[in-house]
Amino acid sequence: MKILYYTSTGNNLFIAKHFGGDLISIPQLVKANEFNIEDDAVGIIFPVFFATSPKLIREFVEKVNIKTDYLFLITSYGRDGDQNALRIMKETFNKRGINVNYTNSVLMVDNFLPVFDMADEIELKKDLNIIDEIEKIKDDILTKKEYILDKELFTDVENIEVVLETTMTEKYHIQVGEDCSGCEVCTKVCPRGNIELIDEKPYFGDTCDFCLGCIHHCKTHTLTINDEANPNERYRNPNIKLSEIIKSNWQRV
Ligand SMILES: Cc1cc2nc3c(=O)[nH]c(=O)nc-3n(C[C@H](O)[C@H](O)[C@H](O)COP(=O)(O)O)c2cc1C
Repeated sequence: MKILYYTSTGNNLFIAKHFGGDLISIPQLVKANEFNIEDDAVGIIFPVFFATSPKLIREFVEKVNIKTDYLFLITSYGRDGDQNALRIMKETFNKRGINVNYTNSVLMVDNFLPVFDMADEIELKKDLNIIDEIEKIKDDILTKKEYILDKELFTDVENIEVVLETTMTEKYHIQVGEDCSGCEVCTKVCPRGNIELIDEKPYFGDTCDFCLGCIHHCKTHTLTINDEANPNERYRNPNIKLSEIIKSNWQRV
């Protein structure tokens, strides 16, 4: 079994590690220009961004050639839009003649920090039984269950993913403060290789997916978003190390 994953703050890597199999980071596949995947079972594990998947994942799904008898898609999400994200990805694969056998989602800590206080969000989710949810999905996958998540969408706004992505990325901006230590962590966790350190200050290119990894992993909290509720609280899945995020995402090694 091959598990292809994308993560910015570790939730999806946490799920991927539970499933076992051969874990492969999608940003590393893109970096290596590797778009041919073959195995008896293949899974894609990704976060919901704006009721769809991250841009890098959408581009990957348009290109990847998957040969398998069992393709499953799992998304972790913080509020809603999981159903929409899975539907869009499944339709993309179907249009390309690739069958999807199973889709499901796991509710986890929401890392989209501009719209709430991150400390409240972590507290809100602390009693979720995430491991039980993941284990149930793992049982399904190991028995190659056929299932497509069927859940009401939270809104009837047409193309909600386009509306959300446009309004949110216009409204919120990443800001660089004065006290950068030049540690380069932001450049290493960026799955797009979109951040460069010049004179010990991060500079952003124009391929940002807005994954917010640079902000969450910034050691000095130099990177912030305008109008944040709590610039002092950041998130990384407590079971995932920074070195694992870097290994998954770093584009310049
Ligand atoms: C840019 C961005 C947009 C997001 N949009 C949504 C969303 O529309 N719905 C939702 O439920 N969660 C949303 N989230 C939350 C993530 O899907 C969730 O926290 C996920 O578990 C993060 O996975 P990771 O830790 O592997 O990066 C968003 C997060 C980011 C950074």
